[in-house]
Amino acid sequence: MGSNRMRFGEKILFGIFALIAVFAILSFVMLEVYRSHLNRPMYPVTTSFDFTPEGKRGSELFRERGCTDCHRAVRNGTNNGVSLDGIGSRKTLDQIYSFLKNPEKNYETKTFDHGPNKEAKYVAGLPDSELHAMAVFLSELKAIQGSPDAEAPPPGGSGFIDEMVKIWAPEEWKADRRDIRLEEPSQQQGTAAPATATPSAPNAK
Ligand code: HEC
Repeated sequence: MGSNRMRFGEKILFGIFALIAVFAILSFVMLEVYRSHLNRPMYPVTTSFDFTPEGKRGSELFRERGCTDCHRAVRNGTNNGVSLDGIGSRKTLDQIYSFLKNPEKNYETKTFDHGPNKEAKYVAGLPDSELHAMAVFLSELKAIQGSPDAEAPPPGGSGFIDEMVKIWAPEEWKADRRDIRLEEPSQQQGTAAPATATPSAPNAK
């Protein structure tokens, strides 16, 4: 056998690699074709923002101070932690700042990572000016109405959602939760309703 001919085993290995390469290229092309025909973004953005200079500085600090190790905000950070997208629609600047300064006093439940002797205890010890800038940044992340980060669903009904609530929501939910879609818009404005009151959040219990 000439030394420039491939052996049987080599042919099989080469064949396997060639198949994987063809599969990868085909998948990539199909994904790109699918994406180019999609009339909405593949990974929808749920937060809108218009940063003030301090908010912009806060967004840089948010990355520099390691917040993205545990959090996600406007496409920065990890998916494994608490997402802060849209937090500006749920909390005021004051609430966010007080939480960063004094987490255990200002959180609805026991904290897990923020607070003395916890993994994110360094946060409360950062300079006030930095905490304030990051709080401004977070308070400027407004949830886009109708996105999963928005507190209130978009105005108008949805037959699909009505049907889902009818079929899936357990009876006891209907007794102790109110359907905020049925309320006047003015009642929804500004009231920081606890997440458990939202019928569209079945995992919030
Ligand atoms: C070790 C992981 C970790 C790090 C690092 C971390 N956080 Fe958190 N953060 C959490 C967890 C977990 C929560 C939920 C509250 C809790 O259990 O402590 C939270 C909650 C929050 C909240 C309140 C969210 C809400 O809905 O009320 C804010 C605001 C926040 N973090 C900001 C920051 C900022 C700013 C930094 C960086 C300076 C940071 N975090 C660093 C894990 C972390």
